[in-house]
Amino acid sequence: MAKQVLKTHDSCLAGRPRTEAGVLTTYNCSGMVWSPYTPYWRQVRKMWSSELFSRKRLESFDYIRVEETQALVNGLFALSGKDLKVKEHLAVNNMNVISRIAFGKKYLDGECDDSGVVSAEEFRSMLDEIFLLNGVLNIGDWIPWLGFMDLHWYVKRMRVVSEKFDRLLEHVIDEHKERKLLMSSSDSWAPKDMVDLLLEIAEDPSLEVKFTRSNIKAQALELIGGGTESSTVTIEWAISELMKKPMILKKAQEELDKVIGKERWVEEKDMPNLPYIQAITKETMRMHPVAPLLVPRLAREHRSVSWSEPNEFRPERFVDKVVDVKGHHFELLPFGAGRRMCPGYLLGLKVIQSTLANLIHGFEWKLAGGMSEEGLDMEEIFGLSTPRKIPLNLEVNLISNGNGEKKFPQRFSILGIQGYVSTNLGVETIRAASF
Ligand code: HEM
Repeated sequence: MAKQVLKTHDSCLAGRPRTEAGVLTTYNCSGMVWSPYTPYWRQVRKMWSSELFSRKRLESFDYIRVEETQALVNGLFALSGKDLKVKEHLAVNNMNVISRIAFGKKYLDGECDDSGVVSAEEFRSMLDEIFLLNGVLNIGDWIPWLGFMDLHWYVKRMRVVSEKFDRLLEHVIDEHKERKLLMSSSDSWAPKDMVDLLLEIAEDPSLEVKFTRSNIKAQALELIGGGTESSTVTIEWAISELMKKPMILKKAQEELDKVIGKERWVEEKDMPNLPYIQAITKETMRMHPVAPLLVPRLAREHRSVSWSEPNEFRPERFVDKVVDVKGHHFELLPFGAGRRMCPGYLLGLKVIQSTLANLIHGFEWKLAGGMSEEGLDMEEIFGLSTPRKIPLNLEVNLISNGNGEKKFPQRFSILGIQGYVSTNLGVETIRAASF
């Protein structure tokens, strides 16, 4: 069935239903997620794949992921011995990565001079809200004559959240236009982030379909939404499963010790040598697909495809098996397949795998408040994405080598950048150093 929908009949079924959420929260369905299968969608899809997410473009943003991974581990060092909500740290990290890639800076960071636009905390709740509202069963979508009653107040909430996003996106575009105006007079302007690219594309006179300011805002919104929520939710589920299965965690740590050693962090280029980490990622995506309905067009088919013990978290099922997540193997489709397959899958995979590997490699995690593995609730919230219902609360500690010593002399090298992490007196700093 999955194969028939996504391959054989892909072109017939590549449309999306027109929902109130699509109309109100993504600029009249002009983002990619809710856009119908039209020449406009094909044009935008081409922009995403050949301009925004080409392999070369993603590589040009490698340094951003390196810096933000450093910031994440640095922040966790500082919290050693304390309880924390894992999702909060992951969300800030992923949000910073994507907002630097898409908007050119951390608009949502307290340190940023533009922090007045929206606080990081408010932005996170806006994202939660928009994801929830894009996945709810809104009565008016199914029984239009009942729509005016807005029985659950979803439509009202959609209007509120989209106004908030619009204020932020207006500000982002204004800033980019101002910078372009200022710099193009001296010929020194070059696109440095995805909003720059979108603005440049919009000026192209050869475009088949006009690309408006609202269309740019819709793409910017989906870049930020897609780049933050899915990876955050997936990593949180992976760590939750590892908390329930300490033997699997131990096996993953052993792989990391063997392949990476005890003196450096994991780099994205290490991933082909870490089959067990890859298997954990796949198994997490199998059990907790971020978009189980694949943005309405396909039922939960792949979740039940003849896996043995489908409800057991068992990464081994993917070890030495040729099952990838790129839409070729219909038993595992975390990013969908065919024409509407996720255009951000490469970025998503990079972020998930390297963040997860470093969190396992550098830290010891314990359920907070003395909770037992069995007591850990695994209920999910069902919206456009499927996060944990109760956020994962863990105690974080620097990993020890059994003698109580810190495992790392805190030397690290991520994506070719080498540095030295000092953990003296609990005051953690990362500073660049060449060895
Ligand atoms: C863990 C990471 C991610 C997962 C699991 C994921 C999953 C998905 C899924 C299942 C779909 C629907 C595919 C279908 O209908 O066949 C999708 C679509 C989409 N994703 Fe992702 N995604 C991830 C990361 C990203 C990132 C990083 C971005 C962008 C920054 C992104 C942007 C999009 C967009 C725009 C679509 C709509 C594509 C279309 O309808 O043409 N996603 N994603």
